[in-house]
Amino acid sequence: MSHHGLIPPHGGTLVNLVVDETRAAELKQQAPQMPQIVLGDREQCDLEMLAIGAFSPLTSFVGEKDFHSICDEIKLTKGLPWPAPITCTVSTAVADTIDIGQPVALNDDQNRLLAVLTVSEKYAHDKQKEAESVFRTTEDAHPGVAVTMQQGDVCLSGKLEVITARHDPQFPKHRLTPAQTRAAFDEKGWETVVAFQTRNPIHRAHEYITKCALEICDGLLIHPLVGQTQKGDIPADVRMQCYEVLIRDYYSEKNTFLSVLPAAMRYAGPREAILHAIIRKNYGCTHFIVGRDHAGVGKYYGTYDAQRIFDDLDPIALGITPLKFEHSFWCKKSGAMASDKTTNSTPEDRVFLSGTKVREMLAAGERPPVEFTRPEIADILIKAMQG
Ligand code: ADX
Repeated sequence: MSHHGLIPPHGGTLVNLVVDETRAAELKQQAPQMPQIVLGDREQCDLEMLAIGAFSPLTSFVGEKDFHSICDEIKLTKGLPWPAPITCTVSTAVADTIDIGQPVALNDDQNRLLAVLTVSEKYAHDKQKEAESVFRTTEDAHPGVAVTMQQGDVCLSGKLEVITARHDPQFPKHRLTPAQTRAAFDEKGWETVVAFQTRNPIHRAHEYITKCALEICDGLLIHPLVGQTQKGDIPADVRMQCYEVLIRDYYSEKNTFLSVLPAAMRYAGPREAILHAIIRKNYGCTHFIVGRDHAGVGKYYGTYDAQRIFDDLDPIALGITPLKFEHSFWCKKSGAMASDKTTNSTPEDRVFLSGTKVREMLAAGERPPVEFTRPEIADILIKAMQG
């Protein structure tokens, strides 16, 4: 066994819920007679994450005890850290038609069969509690809270058997499962791998922190989230063009690996930073980048809340090491990327552009300064905005 194999998945075993062909054929044949459930966007993403073991040790949507233990204590009932309930929900009316012990068909939004859930638990979806504990707000204006509030009032759990994790997946060549990234890292001989979560094009600040991290690790996994995001976020296909060009032109290809994460964005800030770290541990990474306002949205979380929350976790139980980065920017005085830790320059010496400002510039066909975004990336974004 290589050294890399020493980084175990969360809970020790990599989960795989995809059934073999014989069982799949059996389930496909029986499914039309089962109650039909159409999963929401987030639930479809969660199903894929469960199926491929990205949510190890979870083997299904969570049951009631875990739901409350996760909300109250950031832990599964068995004691492992886990920050957000992964739920499959239906309306009360639908729940009333489902008996305990009954198999139900889980379908995607085009009514194509994904999985069969043999229901062993139905319980009240405590949305208020989920919102307050996971998102730290119950405001509907929060995109993650909005999804929770739109979900059904009853959660289902039980044995989950997956037939197809996702029909017509985007970026099939880059959609590696945790088992596949582990094998790839192994082959490269990487003992330490740092993962970078992102839902944005990579700007200079992102580039800087990923490269700082790579200096102390063998490999860098650029792991953009391509599941459900909110309106206003740059579409995943445009971002993929940016990542590929950036890696080709500005990174060392031999130490950088690009793969996509099929997860939904929850915008849960600190709690989601923990989830993002655990997921990357499952993909075989030893380190995880947490920068400024990680997985944040609006003004719901403090700039470094997502870093601080790791202080309350048992590092051994977490297993993956967070690498925390301060807000970074181009410092004109030093002619380099920097942060408060590395320069005492004043705000006038720093290149800072708000997201809104950058969007305005790109929409007007204007490249942001090279100190903010590489020109090749600006051009891809400008083209996408105009198309
Ligand atoms: S996120 O929702 O995936 O966190 P984004 O793609 O913007 O959004 O950020 C990816 C990672 O880079 C996160 O860890 C975030 O904290 C970090 N980050 C983004 N911008 C900066 C910055 N200017 N300085 C330091 N870290 C940053």
